[in-house]
Amino acid sequence: MRMQLQAFVPLGLGLGLLVAPALSGCPYASQIQQQSLSSIPPHATPSLSPSSSPTSTPPSTTKKDLFLMNRIAPSTSELYISHADGSNERPLLPSTQAIYEYHASFSPDGQWITCTAERTGDGNSDIYRVRPDGSDLQTLLSTPSMEDSVVLSPDGKYAAYVSTANGYWSHIWILEIETQRRWNVTDTPLARKDLDTAMMNGYFRPDWSPDGDWIVFSSDRNTEWAGHGDPTFQGLSGWEHTQELSIYAVRRDGSGFRKVVSKEGYSLGSPKWSPNGKRIIYYEMTREATWGAHRPESVDSTSSVIVSVDFATGTDRKVEVGGEGVKTFPQFLSNGTVGYHLKGTEREGIYTTDGVYLNRTVRSPAWSPDGKMVVYEKTGWNARPMKKELYSWSSEWEYRFTDVFPQLSNQNRLAITEKQLGNSSIISMNLDGSDEVMAYDNSKSTLVSSALVSKGLAGAFQPSWSPDSEWLVFGEGAWFQSRAETGGWLVRATANGSYFEVLTHSNSSIANTSIINSGFPSYSHDGTKIVFRVWGVNSTNGDPSQLGLRILDLNTGNITVLTDQWDNLPFFSPAETPERIVFTRKTGVYNYDICTIRADGTDLRVLTSSGANDAHAVWSHDGRIMYSTGMFGFQYECALYDQTFQPYGQIMIMDADGRNKRVLTDSIWEDSMPLLVPREAL
Ligand SMILES: *[C@@H]1O[C@H](CO)[C@@H](O)[C@H](O)[C@H]1NC(C)=O
Ligand SMILES: *[C@@H]1O[C@H](CO)[C@@H](O)[C@H](O)[C@H]1NC(C)=O
Ligand SMILES: *[C@@H]1O[C@H](CO)[C@@H](O)[C@H](O)[C@H]1NC(C)=O
Ligand SMILES: *[C@@H]1O[C@H](CO)[C@@H](O)[C@H](O)[C@H]1NC(C)=O
Ligand SMILES: *[C@@H]1O[C@H](CO)[C@@H](O)[C@H](O)[C@H]1NC(C)=O
Ligand SMILES: *[C@@H]1O[C@H](CO)[C@@H](O)[C@H](O)[C@H]1NC(C)=O
Ligand SMILES: *[C@@H]1O[C@H](CO)[C@@H](O)[C@H](O)[C@H]1NC(C)=O
Ligand SMILES: *[C@@H]1O[C@H](CO)[C@@H](O)[C@H](O)[C@H]1NC(C)=O
Ligand SMILES: *[C@@H]1O[C@H](CO)[C@@H](O)[C@H](O)[C@H]1NC(C)=O
Repeated sequence: MRMQLQAFVPLGLGLGLLVAPALSGCPYASQIQQQSLSSIPPHATPSLSPSSSPTSTPPSTTKKDLFLMNRIAPSTSELYISHADGSNERPLLPSTQAIYEYHASFSPDGQWITCTAERTGDGNSDIYRVRPDGSDLQTLLSTPSMEDSVVLSPDGKYAAYVSTANGYWSHIWILEIETQRRWNVTDTPLARKDLDTAMMNGYFRPDWSPDGDWIVFSSDRNTEWAGHGDPTFQGLSGWEHTQELSIYAVRRDGSGFRKVVSKEGYSLGSPKWSPNGKRIIYYEMTREATWGAHRPESVDSTSSVIVSVDFATGTDRKVEVGGEGVKTFPQFLSNGTVGYHLKGTEREGIYTTDGVYLNRTVRSPAWSPDGKMVVYEKTGWNARPMKKELYSWSSEWEYRFTDVFPQLSNQNRLAITEKQLGNSSIISMNLDGSDEVMAYDNSKSTLVSSALVSKGLAGAFQPSWSPDSEWLVFGEGAWFQSRAETGGWLVRATANGSYFEVLTHSNSSIANTSIINSGFPSYSHDGTKIVFRVWGVNSTNGDPSQLGLRILDLNTGNITVLTDQWDNLPFFSPAETPERIVFTRKTGVYNYDICTIRADGTDLRVLTSSGANDAHAVWSHDGRIMYSTGMFGFQYECALYDQTFQPYGQIMIMDADGRNKRVLTDSIWEDSMPLLVPREAL
């Protein structure tokens, strides 16, 4: 028995390949329809109901299934506007209208601010415009797909934006505002001509040329599904995907699609035009830096530069802003200076190259065409409360937030790891939230250090109920990268919290030893066995004696080898379905897939093949498999996210044999940890 692998709390994901089977099952494709521009009256009730009705269904009195899931995203996001020198800062929208908005930009005539907002529900990004004084808020486009990064054309007739419509990939779309006609310009026959469909294929952050003829944007098309630089026996092949962007251009009608500039191994993002339409400015960082730029532990030590090139030739590269720090959101201001944002460190804030520094914690600054005003968002990061209502992509299911590793007992008690909302303890409760019981108080643990727990790296992870609901088994220890130096134990506690026992041996330090870190357990149907994963100091070197899944026989204490590959997150199928174990396997240098196997080690099946991360699978009560995938790539530039691991993660469901793959979320955020509760249980 030995330990094992990856960082996944937030989720797993995957990537991609031939999308067709998944798409045909889109639960809400039929809801995507046109709607007319609707004004949102001032003093509208700040509810989460749609601001316009064409896509909403009449309130139903029928009970729905409950779909619990975790989301890593800011808990609040509010746009502010101020003078460019920082004075006169105020919220952009009146307090009665601010809901959750971000990614703003000024129209070229300065008469509008366009932005993204989640006014129809937590997780559903739609696009809007509003006057710079906060009046006349209008919906530009609201669909169940993700819409984001909207910019108005110089003549004000068109919007360019990013949408995941028709297949979940992020493409650049054009909206003719008056007619609401819309079309994409990056999935055309021309753009597909030299596309390798086994690779990444996302398009981000469009900007119109001053003459309105061209749109520039960034794209990771035709780049590998690579991970960040964690050392493994296969080389540097860390788990979470990074992003290699180049700058492209296209005309409004989809003609002229071409690459403007790229740099191998680098991410060139957030392009914007110079006022005379001759140059393009963007940020440039290494591919690896796109990982560091959105991780709190590394953002301070990650760097990018701001550069510009000649649009016509992609040459004449000029470094506009060098030096340390993650610099993004570059913009040529009208007087020839450059504005940008610096993320991380004590120097975080908004800068111009002639010395303006606004020392404030904001995101996504954009300046007005005359350079006098700047708009940006402020985000909050309190965790969402348990059961917070989320946008639902299904008419049959109610989507709500949960903390991590939700698991339902055969008696319909919910158990979770209280990670975002507590000390990574194991708690259980009724489905209505009543009768909360602490089954295992991790803050009193003598096994793990509170320092690692407070960083989210250790704790009591992945509770699993015994069939009689008397016990909860879980892993207690250190996870993610620290699993190779620090201990992990299987522990089981009575659900009432009166007693616990340690089931496997480990030690707080396992460095330079053959001691194993054990975790991520799940009970068998008859309650006599527990499947779990092992990890040790040589697992990353591919040592099979320290890799894979093990089965603990609770009657004999015997531990037997089920698998000896890079496997994690095993779960026995629910009672009343054929007994199989679902788990995640590293199947390639950068690739993770969902597999199932019988408890006797026979009949291994690999159920995904997207080429991206497909991971973190759990069973639904009816014997289907839900998991997180990265197969549709990023929805936004990787480096611009914060505090997330796999922002591309979306949740999918499939039959136990891998058929009927369907997409369950379509947000710009990292979505994971699903639990489906049938309505009869509510
Ligand atoms: C984009 O438009 C082309 C036609 O130019 C169409 O064939 C393709 O299906 C569209 N892609 C999406 C994602 O809607
Ligand atoms: C910005 O403000 C913070 C908080 O007031 C302060 O700690 C930091 O030193 C300031 N940074 C600079 C560069 O002045
Ligand atoms: C250029 O414009 C920016 C933004 O309006 C302003 O902060 C800066 O002072 C201006 N610089 C000069 C030299 O006029
Ligand atoms: C976390 O642990 C601390 C220290 O024991 C305790 O004060 C706090 O109430 C705990 N939080 C939760 C949510 O249990
Ligand atoms: C807690 O649960 C265990 C196992 O079900 C039981 O034996 C014990 O009596 C319970 N203790 C309390 C205080 O209810
Ligand atoms: C870990 O190993 C040390 C040294 O062998 C030993 O003293 C200690 O008791 C062990 N701790 C645990 C929790 O097993
Ligand atoms: C493990 O061994 C390495 C190399 O011999 C040494 O540098 C390190 O301090 C050791 N770590 C522990 C915890 O013993
Ligand atoms: C790990 O691998 C190294 C190199 O093969 C070997 O020397 C060492 O004994 C191994 N350690 C353990 C604990 O297996
Ligand atoms: C443990 O398993 C091994 C191999 O299956 C078997 O030989 C041994 O008897 C078992 N031990 C116990 C105590 O059941």
